[in-house]
Amino acid sequence: MDIITLEISNKKKIPKKYLKKLQVSLKKKQVVILKNILDPLKLKEIKNKTFEFGKKNKPNKKMSNFAFIKKSLHRIDDEHPQMRVKCVNHVFRPSRNDKNFKSFFEITDQIDEIRNSLLKIKKKEYRKSNNGKGYISRPTIKHYPIGGGYMSKHTDKVLGKHSIQVITPLSEKFKDYKSGGLKVKIKKNWHDIDAKLSLGSIVLHRPDLEHKVDKVNRSKKTLWGSISGKWSLISNLDI
Ligand SMILES: [Fe+2]
Repeated sequence: MDIITLEISNKKKIPKKYLKKLQVSLKKKQVVILKNILDPLKLKEIKNKTFEFGKKNKPNKKMSNFAFIKKSLHRIDDEHPQMRVKCVNHVFRPSRNDKNFKSFFEITDQIDEIRNSLLKIKKKEYRKSNNGKGYISRPTIKHYPIGGGYMSKHTDKVLGKHSIQVITPLSEKFKDYKSGGLKVKIKKNWHDIDAKLSLGSIVLHRPDLEHKVDKVNRSKKTLWGSISGKWSLISNLDI
């Protein structure tokens, strides 16, 4: 099996009896999908608030790499020549100080705990300040607008033993967009991951599995101003 789907049904975390099996699956380069583990209403609220934030605030040219940021940021990536991975998307990086993103941090804290249980990482191993040492979680949101939002195929670096890609959909294929979306290559075959997800799911896979976002409702014009399209919350662990 290339893709493992586990129904969690609102237990909020991975039951202990499944942890070992999922750790082995991820190591073997299988994709893991956890279903019904997050609150769909909160995910909808996060998408709406993020979209509003993008409309009300001017985009930033640069995105800070610091672990802790005072103000929420967002940036539009429209095939920028300096990007390692070519893409058309809108990236948002909320700040913990921003009251508008309260639900975002409730959900990302839950996702971080789920991810850390798989990676056997404790909260105290995290960085406490921008200059401190330890792991960082820098959760971001990506909006791939309809009419051509995409990310070209690539792999990401494996950071020591602790590396895993964690993607939470904030939109649904066939509802918010019809074609395109997340594809992961397993043993020479590209798998349409988005078609298997619903609001409340989390996708996990090793960063060295090739992945891409195919153009979302490909057309001549990209609709940056519309809330439709593909939305994802990314919670990768970093050092
Ligand atoms: Fe990636």
